[in-house]
Amino acid sequence: DTPLRDLAAAKGKVIGTAVTGSKLTGTYGDLAGSQFGSLTPGNAMKWESVEPARGTFDWTEADQIVAFAQAHGQQVRGHTLVWHNQNPGWLTNGSWTSAQLATLLQDHISTEVGRYKGRIAAWDVVNEPFNEDGTYRTSLWYNGLGTDYIANALTWAHAADPAAKLYINDYNVEGVNAKSTALYNLVKSLKERGVPIDGVGLQAHLILGQVPSTLQQNIQRFADLGVDVAITELDVRMALPADSAKLAQQAADYKAVTAACVAVTRCVNLTVWGFADSDSWVEGTFPGYGAATPYDATYAPKPAYYAIAEAL
Ligand code: XIL
Repeated sequence: DTPLRDLAAAKGKVIGTAVTGSKLTGTYGDLAGSQFGSLTPGNAMKWESVEPARGTFDWTEADQIVAFAQAHGQQVRGHTLVWHNQNPGWLTNGSWTSAQLATLLQDHISTEVGRYKGRIAAWDVVNEPFNEDGTYRTSLWYNGLGTDYIANALTWAHAADPAAKLYINDYNVEGVNAKSTALYNLVKSLKERGVPIDGVGLQAHLILGQVPSTLQQNIQRFADLGVDVAITELDVRMALPADSAKLAQQAADYKAVTAACVAVTRCVNLTVWGFADSDSWVEGTFPGYGAATPYDATYAPKPAYYAIAEAL
């Protein structure tokens, strides 16, 4: 079978997967390297991973993933610079003035983006800034710095690597709804103000049978705004145990998402959040749900894999 990355390339798309550095060997490494044209570190580039103690950095896993990608002719999507989760304890437990917080954030972004300058195709600069109703999420950053943290983070990232495409990434923004409209309005305003913003990431952690009917329309409205779109964290979870009917529905769901991306020129990347069920975050996070990825726990392709291939 033609690898997914070659099918995607023929359509002008890049297909990616989230990965864990320590697993990039054996069958996992073979599939990650051969089937995908883009890698996203699942955790390795998050602040708690790279600076576990203040001023003490650990780039081991991030470096490993970037090196693997280079060796396999793959892009890297950097994930993620500014988030309310997976920050180091020293940061979240500290009490900081606004000025201190701004300096910490600027230093973090400059250090991490600068380290990988020229080697990251796209950064998820800001992750999950919105609540479901479209208001801004309260977080360390919002509480301390107000909404300015978003524009400032993008500006700092751009200064550290002017060639990297800069994204805002969120979940439940796949269809047209209050949250995706808030993201749309933010991107519009950033562009009007000349803030460097290149794309939006639609995470797409979906539930079986629930691909939003407005997915393609939503991708298109962002494209029409003048930004790229990436499906950044696709998975389709089902109530366990899986059966053939559920796997068929899941294949239809993967096909619908892939087709929506293929239909819009500016949808540039489609990334799955782990490619095999044994490596997915879903079972640990959504009790009773799983089987969310295109390969089963033995790395055999599922109907969803063939559905992606058909839609590409
Ligand atoms: C998840 C990882 O996959 C898990 O290993 C980790 O324990 C928690 O974070 N949205 C995101 C990702 O932007 O960073 C999250 O990744 C999944 C939800």
